[in-house]
Amino acid sequence: MRIQTKTTPAAAQSADAVVFFLHAEQKSSAFGSAFRDLNAEEFSGRLGQLCVVHTQGKLAAPRALLVGLGPRKDLTLPKLRRAVVMATRRLREIGVHCAAFDAGDAERAGVIAEAAVAAHYDFDDFKPSKAPSKTKLSLATIHVSPGEARAAAVAVERGRVIGETVNWTKSIANLPGNVIYPAELGRRALALARELRGRLHCRVLDKRALERGGFGGILAVGSGSIREPRLIVLEYHGGSRSPKAKPFALVGKAVTFDSGGICIKPGDKMEEMKWDKCGGCAVLGIMRGAALLRLPVNLIAVIAAAENMPSATSYRPGDIVTTRSGNTIEVINTDAEGRVILSDALAYACEQKPEAIVDFATLTGACVVALGHNIGGLMGNDPALRKRIQRASDATGERVWELPLDDEFRDMVKSDAATVKNSTGRYAGSITGGAFLQAFVEEGVPWAHLDIAGPAWVSDAKPHHEKGATAFGVRLMIEMFSRGK
Ligand code: BES
Ligand code: MN
Ligand code: ZN
Repeated sequence: MRIQTKTTPAAAQSADAVVFFLHAEQKSSAFGSAFRDLNAEEFSGRLGQLCVVHTQGKLAAPRALLVGLGPRKDLTLPKLRRAVVMATRRLREIGVHCAAFDAGDAERAGVIAEAAVAAHYDFDDFKPSKAPSKTKLSLATIHVSPGEARAAAVAVERGRVIGETVNWTKSIANLPGNVIYPAELGRRALALARELRGRLHCRVLDKRALERGGFGGILAVGSGSIREPRLIVLEYHGGSRSPKAKPFALVGKAVTFDSGGICIKPGDKMEEMKWDKCGGCAVLGIMRGAALLRLPVNLIAVIAAAENMPSATSYRPGDIVTTRSGNTIEVINTDAEGRVILSDALAYACEQKPEAIVDFATLTGACVVALGHNIGGLMGNDPALRKRIQRASDATGERVWELPLDDEFRDMVKSDAATVKNSTGRYAGSITGGAFLQAFVEEGVPWAHLDIAGPAWVSDAKPHHEKGATAFGVRLMIEMFSRGK
């Protein structure tokens, strides 16, 4: 899809369809005579409402798509984004190739570009071709008022890159465990760095390197699978060039399939555990977006990749594992594998003397119980960092909610035989996951943990989102790094 910004009126654009956004209070006055005949049942301007109208020669385009935005005072950019995704999906359904969007200002133009691109994502890699998939728009013109032209061009390009990076992230996260496994994820990361050569650097530690480096947690979890584990490290230098400048570290859980291991999961919905790599995929996507947008930060990404399988070589309950930091883990439950691999990744990130660390992990089912499918759990040791994440979250609509991480939870993960144990029973399951991770973060390093088990993927298709990975965290971190401190 090509995207252009224009300062001519959308109503005069010859396209297959013109898209108008209407607030509830605008519905009757907005376009003079063009849509006067619509009654309130047909279109009221309620948020997310869509209405296709044949323009009968009154406008340059033969069809108009009216998109309700609800009352003006309640509209936020995340709500607009959803409305544009739904609108674009409708355009695709009705076979539109060229669409003109009436954006008005630059901020809206940027959101429209991002959402229109994101609405083109389909996970159809494994559909034997020929089957005609939904139309893809070939051209979107985004119309703004003349004073907004310069700002709109910048916002649209940024929106396009973000939308495209979200799609790229989903396209990896949705791949199944037989196609993407730790070594293959490593190859994709290397390929990305090659594509963005000069901006992104990547190295992948294989099993031998992990052994030499003492990454006992990743090795333990990976030991049950014929697919060997990896540690993927990416670097991006877009900020200060001073050798004293500390990088911001991003850590991701990439369990390419989580069967539970010896403590095997029930079969129901087990196929969804191919999405247990979504934290690592989000980190990859963030690095890609940062490099493409040349964000003014220095980043280091550390992605722990393993497949958690039951076999004769699996790690087992009762095992005591020595990790990279020297801290030991008593394995109570092999299904609490995310924290075991992250122990090494967090320790490795701390060795890089980072300014701060944010980790992304589909860590606990308990987080889905607590916060549902739309909200990620936020924990950490630094109020300012949590605030920064919250502010970015308000802007992008990737919602997070803070869970407490008091000392008492750290006591709960202590083990009689080792530094920590990886499972503590029923209560406060997400927080004890966070408390476990904290044991591997050096004192004094600001750190935040995002448990994205709920929002990382959509199990049943929604009007605003297809089934599958959401790339949760990608827009969030791009927003955060774009804003500065
Ligand atoms: N990947 C799962 C967490 C998960 C479960 C994410 C369901 C999304 C949906 C994680 O590895 C896991 O199995 N966690 C256990 C931890 C427990 C054994 C302490 C869980 O949540 O049950
Ligand atoms: Mn698990
Ligand atoms: Zn898992």
